[in-house]
Amino acid sequence: MTGGAGFIGTHVTAALLEAGHEVRVLDSAHPAAHRGPLPRDIHGAPLVRGDVRDRSTVAGVLPGIDVVVHQAAMVGMGVDLDDLPDYVGANDLGTAVLLAEMARLGVHRLVLASSMVVYGEGAYRCPADGPVRPAAREVAALAAERFEPVCPACGRELRPELVDEDAVLDPRSVYAATKLAQEHLSAAWARQTGGSVAALRYHNVYGPGMPRDTPYSGVAAIFRSALEAGRAPRVFEDGGQRRDFVHVSDVARANLAALDATAADLTGFRPFNVASGAPATVGEMAEALADAVGGPGPVVTGEFRLGDVRHIVASPARATAELGFTATTGLRTGVAEFAHAALR
Ligand code: UD1
Repeated sequence: MTGGAGFIGTHVTAALLEAGHEVRVLDSAHPAAHRGPLPRDIHGAPLVRGDVRDRSTVAGVLPGIDVVVHQAAMVGMGVDLDDLPDYVGANDLGTAVLLAEMARLGVHRLVLASSMVVYGEGAYRCPADGPVRPAAREVAALAAERFEPVCPACGRELRPELVDEDAVLDPRSVYAATKLAQEHLSAAWARQTGGSVAALRYHNVYGPGMPRDTPYSGVAAIFRSALEAGRAPRVFEDGGQRRDFVHVSDVARANLAALDATAADLTGFRPFNVASGAPATVGEMAEALADAVGGPGPVVTGEFRLGDVRHIVASPARATAELGFTATTGLRTGVAEFAHAALR
């Protein structure tokens, strides 16, 4: 387990141990995710502090390993382009070194933490022109509070649809580009080695142990941190943007199911959406969290971030059909717990 000391990695490690696997954790204690020293073990799994970019470290931990679960990555939108070399180094060079050492040492199974950011905008349908791909939203439209993408042919507002794994990939940020490169690198590795890769395209993960509000945090942690400080969650745009908020315990179960599939009939490279299948708006997430802690209620600000997509919601059908994975924690239950859970 790379990145096994992080938010998601800690939960995945716990799920693997509970299922009877022996786990070895490699984690670099990246400062974007960790302040202070790492623990000696993760739920009893031994932890080696080291960087996936370092060949000798990777070569040292791989012997005896059947399958690598690769969660180590720099996540989020980052601060500015000064971050670019760090993202590419941690995510792509790191994956390249890992794959090279796996090939050399004969480890042929990989579960890769990917992201829905590889899709860019979600899927849309125009009432007149059918399925269409909108261009990036224009500043003038956003500034005039016209947030819904429009049909490139007729200009009508589009309706969001569920994205499946065969959608065109359109990474729109440095982070998204590095996640897609990880997918491409591991697909090439699988072709050349005969190995198997389950790439898990996580949607908006939330849950206990999530990092607090940082430039690398998702919106759920930002809202939760605001409420903890007694401030209202600030909802951008009109709050109607849709996401699929998936609980970290479900993400851990998806990893377990993917790991089993790489030992069974999964061959080559195969991507899977990891989503709850029950999309919500960002405004609904803010309301639910504020309700759970007794306020203050969210403020809808109309602000916008140029890099944001409007809606990105996914079909979880492939993971259900091929991995036997279905999310079980609904937003209401998950948020009630998250509202009071410890953050990292
Ligand atoms: C997020 C992650 C991305 C991850 C993906 C899937 C970040 C920054 N983004 O993408 O890395 O791969 O989930 O798990 O970690 N918003 C507010 N108020 C705020 C902040 C954000 O309303 O204070 C809105 C944004 O405008 C956006 C939505 O919330 O519409 C989601 O934002 P965010 O969680 O940052 O990014 P995603 O694009 O969903």
